[in-house]
Amino acid sequence: MIFFPDPTTRTVGLVINEHVFRLMEVRRGPFYHRKLRLQRYAETRIPDGIVVAGVFKKPDEAAARLKSLLKKAFGRMKTCGVVVSLPETRTFIKVINVTKPATLEEVPAAVSAEASLHIPVPIQDLYLDWQPVGDAKAVPVGKPMSVAIAAAPKEIVDSYAATLEMAGLIPVAFEIEAQSIVRCVIPIHDDPAKSYGIIDFGATRSSFIVYDHGTIQFTVSIPLSGDMLTERIGAALNVSPEEAERTKRQCGVDAHKCGTQIWEIMQPFLAEISERIQNAMEFYRDHFTNGRALDELLLCGGGANMARMDELLTELLKINVRKADPQVNLDAKHSNLPVEVMLSSTTAVGLALRQPLSKGKSQKKL
Ligand SMILES: Nc1ncnc2c1ncn2[C@@H]1O[C@H](COP(=O)(O)OP(=O)(O)OP(=O)(O)O)[C@@H](O)[C@H]1O
Ligand SMILES: [Mg+2]
Repeated sequence: MIFFPDPTTRTVGLVINEHVFRLMEVRRGPFYHRKLRLQRYAETRIPDGIVVAGVFKKPDEAAARLKSLLKKAFGRMKTCGVVVSLPETRTFIKVINVTKPATLEEVPAAVSAEASLHIPVPIQDLYLDWQPVGDAKAVPVGKPMSVAIAAAPKEIVDSYAATLEMAGLIPVAFEIEAQSIVRCVIPIHDDPAKSYGIIDFGATRSSFIVYDHGTIQFTVSIPLSGDMLTERIGAALNVSPEEAERTKRQCGVDAHKCGTQIWEIMQPFLAEISERIQNAMEFYRDHFTNGRALDELLLCGGGANMARMDELLTELLKINVRKADPQVNLDAKHSNLPVEVMLSSTTAVGLALRQPLSKGKSQKKL
C-alpha cells in the first residue's frame, strides 16, 4: 500500500529483561547482495522495580522507556511491528508424545490433554501452540506421535501486549526465548543429524536448551547467573558492585589469573552449573523417545564472555563446549557489533531474524 503503509512491514526484535530493553533490526542487503545483516541495535538500562520476574510492575514507566528506546533507535518516535520474547522462567517448550486420535478434529484436544500433564499451570490459563515433529501423517492411529508444544500464561502475554501497545508498538509475534536463541545460533541449513545443548548464561538467570532432530526438545532454567557471581565476588572481597563486576570480567573462570579467593568462588559455581547441565543431558538421553548423547554445547548470553568458561566446561562435562557464533546466520561483514555485545544479544538477533526468515513460509500443522 503506497498511501497507508502497513506499520508491521518494518518489524524489529525486542527483548524485555529485568534490567535492560534491547531492540534489534535485521534486513536483507541490496539486490546484488541479499544476505541478512544487522541494521539497527539499541538498548536501554532499566532501574529496579519496573519489570520483576517477567511481570510489568510499572507498565506506564515501562511504556515510557520503550518509547525512548524507539527514539534512540530511529531518531524519532516510530510505530512498528515487534517480535517479542516472553520471560523464560514463565514459559514452556517441550516435545511430547501424543496418542494419535482417530480423526484430525480430535488432535487439538488430545494435544491439550497430554500437555496438561507436562505443564504445572492450569491449561485454561495458558496460550498453547503446537506443531507435529517429523511425519505425523505416517503415524498409525493409537500410536504415539511427537508434538512440540509451546505455552505461556495468558496473564503474561496480555500484559505484554497492553504495555507494548501503550508504547505505540504492534506485537506481531510472541516467542519462547529458546526459539529465538536457536534461530540465532544454529545455522539455518545445519545438518539435522546434529544435536546441541545451548547454555544461555544471563545477568539474572540462565537456561539450558536441548536442540535435536531439528527442534527444541526441552529447556530447563538454571538458577545461576552472572550477577550472582558479581555479588559473591563483591561480598568475598568487600568491594563495590562496580569493582566486583570489573574483577569478574578481568579474571574470568581462570584458576591462575586472580588467586585463590576468586577461584574459591568460581570453582563451586562451575561445578554446580556443570552438574545441572549433566543432569539435563542424562534426562534427555534416558527419558526421551529419540533421546541420545549431545554432540556439542554452545555458550551464549553475556556470561559466555567469561574467559576460559568454554574450556573449563569442556573439561568438566567431557563434551565439546564452545562460544556460540551469533552471526552464523548473518553477513558478518555488515554486522559488526563487538562480540561481547553480540553474545548478550542472541535472543534479540533471533527475534529480529524471525520475519526475514519466515517470509513466504507457513507453519505446518497436521
Ligand atoms: N566479559 C565478561 N565477562 C564476564 N561476565 C560478563 C562479561 N560480559 C558480560 N558479562 C555478564 O553477563 C551478564 C549479562 O548477560 P546478558 O546480557 O545475557 O543478560 P540479560 O539477557 O540482560 O539478562 P537475563 O537473561 O538474565 O534476563 C552480566 O552478569 C554481565 O556481568
Ligand atoms: Mg538473557
